[in-house]
Amino acid sequence: MKIAILGGTGSFGSALAKRLAATDEVVIGSRDAERARVAAEELGVAGATNEDAVANVDLVVLACPASAALVTAQSLREAIGTTPVLSVASALRVQDDRSIAEQVADALDAPVAAGLHTVAAATVGGEQDALVCGDDARAKELSLELAGRAVGGRAIDAGPLANARALEGLTGVVVAVNKRYKVHAGVRLTGL
Ligand SMILES: NC(=O)c1ccc[n+]([C@@H]2O[C@H](COP(=O)([O-])OP(=O)(O)OC[C@H]3O[C@@H](n4cnc5c(N)ncnc54)[C@H](OP(=O)(O)O)[C@@H]3O)[C@@H](O)[C@H]2O)c1
Repeated sequence: MKIAILGGTGSFGSALAKRLAATDEVVIGSRDAERARVAAEELGVAGATNEDAVANVDLVVLACPASAALVTAQSLREAIGTTPVLSVASALRVQDDRSIAEQVADALDAPVAAGLHTVAAATVGGEQDALVCGDDARAKELSLELAGRAVGGRAIDAGPLANARALEGLTGVVVAVNKRYKVHAGVRLTGL
């Protein structure tokens, strides 16, 4: 799969790019072309500005800070067009009754899925499950495919995009567990 990771110079985007470099064609995006080039060289993937990165890819991963995810999506609306998008942004504090992913979906012409919220940068590739939700079958299918390669556990279909409200909030729970037990916890569902 050809994947663009916006904000791919950051902790999560870089960890994901490194993990997927062996199986997928990855281009990391940055607001700055030179920053993208330097980071991409280290990771062994391609690098470009966010705007150039989204051209001719199968899936766009929106991995900018949660506070910047919506404005980034809005600014790239034309460039992204109808290419499916996976939003990984988590709100550590719930401020809105709509998730970041739903707001991103409203701002784009593209179908949006959401997932990987509980997969910390430090645990990409680890033995945990990755939950993905979405309303569009194609965006969800591509996102589940990516998620299945991003973790050692399973990629799980977690229902409609409205469930991103719960998934984005789950990150705060995992962060609290990490602090309490001084670990990098992941999520694993039973009974599947
Ligand atoms: N960190 C984790 O463990 C983790 C786990 C799961 C999900 N997530 C989600 O993944 C996303 C990225 O997290 P992160 O920890 O990797 O973030 P980060 O390292 O702070 O930022 C990622 C990249 O976003 C770009 N960026 C920074 N400020 C921006 C702005 N105002 N507008 C547009 N781009 C900006 C920067 O790249 P350039 O300066 O090169 O443009 C930066 O390298 C977040 O939405 C987070 O909720 C993170």
